[in-house]
Amino acid sequence: MVTVDQVLSSLKKVVDPELHKDIVSMGMVKDLVINSGKVAFTLQLTTPACPFNSEIEQDVRNTIANIGVHDLDLKVTARVMEGRAISLDEILPGVKNIIAVASGKGGVGKTTVSVNLALTLARTGAKVGLLDADIYGPSVPLMLGLKQTPTINNNKIEPAVSGGVKVISMGFFYEQSQQAGIYRGPIVSGIVKQFLTDVNWGELDYLIIDLPPGTGDAPLTLAQTIPITGILIVTTPQEVAMNVAVKAIGMFHKLNVPIVGVIENMSYLQCPHCSERTHIFGKGGGQRVSEKFNVPFVGEIPLHIQIMTGSDTGEPITLSEPGSVQANAFTNVAKTVAGRISVIAAEMKATDEAEAAGRTLNEKDQTEPQNVPQS
Ligand SMILES: Nc1ncnc2c1ncn2[C@@H]1O[C@H](COP(=O)(O)OP(=O)(O)OP(=O)(O)O)[C@@H](O)[C@H]1O
Ligand SMILES: [Mg+2]
Repeated sequence: MVTVDQVLSSLKKVVDPELHKDIVSMGMVKDLVINSGKVAFTLQLTTPACPFNSEIEQDVRNTIANIGVHDLDLKVTARVMEGRAISLDEILPGVKNIIAVASGKGGVGKTTVSVNLALTLARTGAKVGLLDADIYGPSVPLMLGLKQTPTINNNKIEPAVSGGVKVISMGFFYEQSQQAGIYRGPIVSGIVKQFLTDVNWGELDYLIIDLPPGTGDAPLTLAQTIPITGILIVTTPQEVAMNVAVKAIGMFHKLNVPIVGVIENMSYLQCPHCSERTHIFGKGGGQRVSEKFNVPFVGEIPLHIQIMTGSDTGEPITLSEPGSVQANAFTNVAKTVAGRISVIAAEMKATDEAEAAGRTLNEKDQTEPQNVPQS
């Protein structure tokens, strides 16, 4: 009869294609029980949105079958890894990952990407929040068709909820006050900080932050106030958008914030009849930006009238037509982004463990008597 050791050593051969580590070392195999030849365990994946989830599950099933076990009770779950250095007194202790969506140039589709990315991740079962950090021109409520004004509960602002995503935006407060967004830099930074500290975000796997265009106060405040898992850079294929995307990447590199990747929006126009793609703004620009900085290219979103009308009428394409080609483009990007976040989180965990091991060794050096040869 098969033993626990045999099962574990065979599962050690199953390697996560993105993390390049075996699933046993990554702690993905939980609650292994063997009872009269029946093997039961839980496979805990690193994100419900991982592009390789079904591949890993199939590998596990094949591996177990190969050691002669035909009675397998396999549960597949996902627990998103923390991709931020969260200390006990940290702001947002319940938020595992923060992804800020940035661009150098305005109007390239940051908000469209943020909204559809948040909705797609939530659809996979992840707990998702969306913070609209565009204080002067908040457009998230409009894109989600949200009209409610947030309530206050126990001195915390309760976020609105749309498609399972918790949302906060200055737009909710403008609706109330009918004021235009005319604020000076320090006030903008203050509001962004308040959205982090005074909103009841609760437990989140991913908090997406839709940044205003450029490299001004809001991105700087964020990068300096809280540990961000990574920045997602949105660009369009035009030379001018790419040049400013390059500047934005440069700024975040200087601030030591990891780059999740580059996404190219409005990449091509696809003919609805023959599916031919026309790259009206040029081809391969986002890819070139990612190669130049050695950061991943996370995908392309087509230019499509339904993406535009969906955003402008408050019915994002990923909610209104989830199976469409356009929505699938967002699904692919969301999976790649979630995979990238798992990689960043795993690297961070490995660094922490290596540092902790180093500390233990140092402490040992200091406390253990040194083996000095007697003269
Ligand atoms: N892939 C797309 N296809 C068609 N229209 C799009 C696409 N992406 C965005 N748009 C449209 O382009 C306009 C600008 O998009 P969006 O507001 O998301 O950009 P932004 O980068 O957030 O702008 P800002 O810099 O002003 O915050 C919107 O009208 C939106 O509907
Ligand atoms: Mg925007």
